[in-house]
Amino acid sequence: MSVKLVLALAALVPAVLGGGIVSDPSVFASKSFDYLVVGGGTAGLAVAARLSENPKNVVGVIEAGQSSRRPPHLHPRLVSTPSQPGYDWMLETVPQAGLGGKVLEQPRGKILGGSSALNYMAFDRGSKAEYDAWKKFGGDDWSWSGLLPYFKKSENVHGAVVTTPWNDPSTVDTSVEGTTGPTQISYNDWYSDITKPYLKTVNALGIPLSTTPESGNATGVYNCKMSVDRTTGRRSYAANTYHTIASARSNYYVILGAEATKILTTGSSLKRDDAAVTDTAATDAATVDSTADSAATADSAARPSGPGYTTLDILANDPVYAAQQNATYYQNGTGIYAATHSAFAFFDLQTFLSGSTVTSLLKTAVSDAANDGLNQIEKDGLSIQANSILNTDLGQVEIIMYPGHFSPSPAVAGTSYISILMALQRPWSRGSVHIGSNNPTAAPVIDPKYLDNSFDLQVMIKACQFARQIAQTEPLKSAIASFQDPPASTSSDADWAAYVKSAIDPVYHPAGTASLGARADGGVVNSRLKVYGTNNIRVADASIIPLEPASHLQSTVYAIGEKAAAMILADNP
Ligand SMILES: Cc1cc2nc3c(=O)[nH]c(=O)nc-3n(C[C@H](O)[C@H](O)[C@H](O)COP(=O)(O)OP(=O)(O)OC[C@H]3O[C@@H](n4cnc5c(N)ncnc54)[C@H](O)[C@@H]3O)c2cc1C
Ligand SMILES: *[C@@H]1O[C@H](CO)[C@@H](O)[C@H](O)[C@H]1NC(C)=O
Ligand SMILES: *[C@@H]1O[C@H](CO)[C@@H](O)[C@H](O)[C@H]1NC(C)=O
Ligand SMILES: *[C@@H]1O[C@H](CO)[C@@H](O)[C@H](O)[C@H]1NC(C)=O
Repeated sequence: MSVKLVLALAALVPAVLGGGIVSDPSVFASKSFDYLVVGGGTAGLAVAARLSENPKNVVGVIEAGQSSRRPPHLHPRLVSTPSQPGYDWMLETVPQAGLGGKVLEQPRGKILGGSSALNYMAFDRGSKAEYDAWKKFGGDDWSWSGLLPYFKKSENVHGAVVTTPWNDPSTVDTSVEGTTGPTQISYNDWYSDITKPYLKTVNALGIPLSTTPESGNATGVYNCKMSVDRTTGRRSYAANTYHTIASARSNYYVILGAEATKILTTGSSLKRDDAAVTDTAATDAATVDSTADSAATADSAARPSGPGYTTLDILANDPVYAAQQNATYYQNGTGIYAATHSAFAFFDLQTFLSGSTVTSLLKTAVSDAANDGLNQIEKDGLSIQANSILNTDLGQVEIIMYPGHFSPSPAVAGTSYISILMALQRPWSRGSVHIGSNNPTAAPVIDPKYLDNSFDLQVMIKACQFARQIAQTEPLKSAIASFQDPPASTSSDADWAAYVKSAIDPVYHPAGTASLGARADGGVVNSRLKVYGTNNIRVADASIIPLEPASHLQSTVYAIGEKAAAMILADNP
C-alpha cells in the first residue's frame, strides 16, 4: 500500500459534498436547532440523516474535520493508510507496559464520515448470542432481535457476482439483510488464486466454510462483504450515503472544521428536550482487539499467465499489469484495484488448543483480572467471556488472510506474499480513555493496556503458532517458499512472545468508554442512550457498546445510529 498514492488522492478541498454544508459559522450559530449532532461520523451521520427525514426537525451537525471531494481511500485498493493529519486525529496510546513500553497508533477519522472514511471496508456482524449478551447492560431491546431491523435499515446488500472460489449466493437473504438502506454492500469481484489453497487448508484444520455469516452464526471461514458500491468500485461511507441523502433537505445543516469543546447543560435554547450527541475522538478502548502478523512468502514472482500465484504484490512487481488494472478501475470500476482483502475466519479456541489448556488459561485470566480494579460492567463482561470460553459457536480468534505483503519487515521486490494475521476477539485486558488536561482540544490519554492480562499474550502466542501450522499444511504448504515474519527459526514460546510483542497492532475497534449499563455499575448511558444526570444528551456511537462482538465494528455502529434515531423520534412524537 503506497502512502504517496494515498496522499495524492487525499488532497482535501474546503468545498462541498452536496448541499447541507454551511460555510459561514455565524449562519450555523444563528440557527435554532431541534437536534444537534456532535461528530459527523459513522453513527452521527446516520442519526442526523434519519432525524432530518421529518421536515419539522431542524438538524445540525458539528464536525471537526473537513469533507473532501475525493475522500481518502475512495479507491478501495488504497485502503487505510491512517495517520495522515489531513483526516486522522493522529492519536496514540500511552506507553504500553505489556509491550515493553511501546506506543501504538490509534487512528480515528477526522473527516466528514468519520472512521467510515478510512476503514478497511469489511462489513460483517457478530453472532446472535453476542448481541443478546447486551441485554444484561441495556435491557431486552439491546439484543439481536432488537438490533436486526436497524442492521437491515442501514444496508443495501448485493449478492455475489463472482462465485469462485467461495460459492457465495448471488441472491440476498432478506430475512437477515437489508436491500434498501443507504450503505452499499457488495462482494469483491477479484480474488487472488492463493485463496483456494488457503481455504482448503483451513477447512482441513477444522474451520468450515460459511456463506451466511450474517445469519446469527458468524463462525467459520467466509468471504466478507465490503462497504463498496460495486457499480462504481468506490467506498460507500457515511458521507456519500447518509450525508448525501440528507443534503437534499432544507432542514439539515453541517458545519465543518468545528470542534465542540463544551456542552452547556443549563439555559439551553434547544426547542426540544433532546439533543443527540455523538463524540468519538474520546471514546475508545474498554475492549481492544489486537493482531500480530505472521507473513509467509509464496513461491514465485507473480505474473497473470506465468507460474505461481497472483497476489496484491503484483501491483508493485508488474508495472504493466498495474497500469492495465488502473485503466480498468478508472474506466469500469472493476478489477484488482476495486478489491480488498476479504477472507476472514472466526473460530473457537479448541481449534488450536486442547480443552484442558483452555480451562487452565481461563484460570490465569480470572486471577490476573482480579487485580485490575474493574467496574461492575467490566466484571460482568468478563464473566460472560468466561462462561462462553468453550462455546464452539462463537469467534474467539480471527484470521485475516491478506493475499499480499502485510507484515512488519519490508516486502522483497519481485516476491509474492500471503500474510496470515491473527486477531484476538475476546481480550481479557481492559483499558481506559481519560482527559489528561482541562484543555478540551488536548488529546485524550488512551491506555488500552494491550496484553496486560497474560491470557491475551498466551493466546496470541498459540494463535501465531497456529498460523505457522496453517502455512505448513497442504495444499497451502506447497505454495510457500519461505517464511519472512517471523523467521522460520522462531520456535520457543519465548521467541514467539517477543515476536508478538514487537509485531502487534490494534485492529482499530476500540469501544465501550460510554457504555450502556446501570449507573451504579459504571454505565454512562441508559437503555435510551441518555447520559445519566442529563435530560437531553445522548451518546450514539461505538462507545456505548458494553461488550464487543467477534466481528468488524462498522455495521454494528451503523445499526446503533439507526436505532438511536428511532428511539429519539419515538421519545419525541
Ligand atoms: C484504520 C481503521 C480501519 C478499520 N477497519 C474496519 C473495517 O474494515 N470494518 C469495520 O467494520 N470496521 C473497521 N474499523 C472500525 C470502524 O470504522 C469504527 O468502529 C466506526 O467507524 C466508528 O464509528 P463512530 O461513529 O463510533 O466514530 P467515527 O466514525 O470515528 O466518528 C466520530 C466523528 O466525530 C468527530 N468528532 C470527534 N470529536 C469531535 C468534536 N469534539 N467536535 C466535532 N466533531 C468531533 C470525528 O471527527 C468523527 O468524524 C476501522 C477503523 C479504523 C480507524
Ligand atoms: C455455525 O457455522 C459453522 C460454519 O458454517 C458451522 O460449522 C456450525 O455448525 C454452525 N453452528 C450452528 C449452531 O449452526
Ligand atoms: C490511474 O489512472 C488515473 C485516471 O486515468 C490516473 O489519473 C492515475 O495517474 C493512474 N495511476 C497510476 C498509478 O497509473
Ligand atoms: C471496460 O469494460 C468493457 C466491457 O466489459 C471492456 O470491453 C473494456 O475493455 C473495459 N476497459 C478496460 C480499460 O479494461
